[in-house]
Amino acid sequence: MRVGSLFAGIGGIDLGFKQSGFDVVWANEIDKDACKTYRLNFPETTLFEKDIRKLNASLLPKVDIITAGFPCQPFSVCGNQKGFNDSRGNLFFEILRIVDVIQPPIIFLENVANLVKHDEGRTFNIIHNELVCRDYYLRYLVADACDYGIPQHRTRTYLIAFQNVNQCESYRFPQKIKLKKRIFDLIGKSSWVEYILLFKAFTSL
Ligand SMILES: C[S@@+](CC[C@H](N)C(=O)[O-])C[C@H]1O[C@@H](n2cnc3c(N)ncnc32)[C@H](O)[C@@H]1O
Repeated sequence: MRVGSLFAGIGGIDLGFKQSGFDVVWANEIDKDACKTYRLNFPETTLFEKDIRKLNASLLPKVDIITAGFPCQPFSVCGNQKGFNDSRGNLFFEILRIVDVIQPPIIFLENVANLVKHDEGRTFNIIHNELVCRDYYLRYLVADACDYGIPQHRTRTYLIAFQNVNQCESYRFPQKIKLKKRIFDLIGKSSWVEYILLFKAFTSL
């Protein structure tokens, strides 16, 4: 299946799709350093390095899935909580602009855990309604990476929208995996000390 990736960053979401056998055909990202890393990680993907607001949707090749880990600061408990009133929050509507042209059978969205609670649920309601009125059926999950084998607490909202109701009903989110690795197994003890020192330096500012 063919994937188009919005807000691609360095390709974290894309890597999962690629490792699962999907073909990431094109991607869009504005940050030049992220793009540099993305190109190294995904030399076979056509990367449009530009503001999504300037992306001409009619020139994008058709794909089966559009992914978007859209900017989360406006919805995060760590951010200003302005949501759609923040210019970065408004970028959600850019996803819809591109969806309206490409009409992908599946949309995969990722954002902070607080997305579902932001503005007493009204933000998530708007997202839900915008997709439902385009005839998508939705499934979502708020999940912590450490329940899926990654030794880090990273809680995120994952939303999948399907055009096909049967596909939506038969979709199962992955089963939880018992944690077998510790952070030391991935970054080594010496780097861990560097992280603690860095953290202390930042928190004492
Ligand atoms: C939450 S991050 C996504 C990270 C990505 N999932 C990854 O694995 O690296 C949001 C990304 O959106 C990009 N972004 C923000 N505003 C943008 C815009 N106007 N047009 C295109 N990309 C934008 C940021 O540079 C950032 O890389």
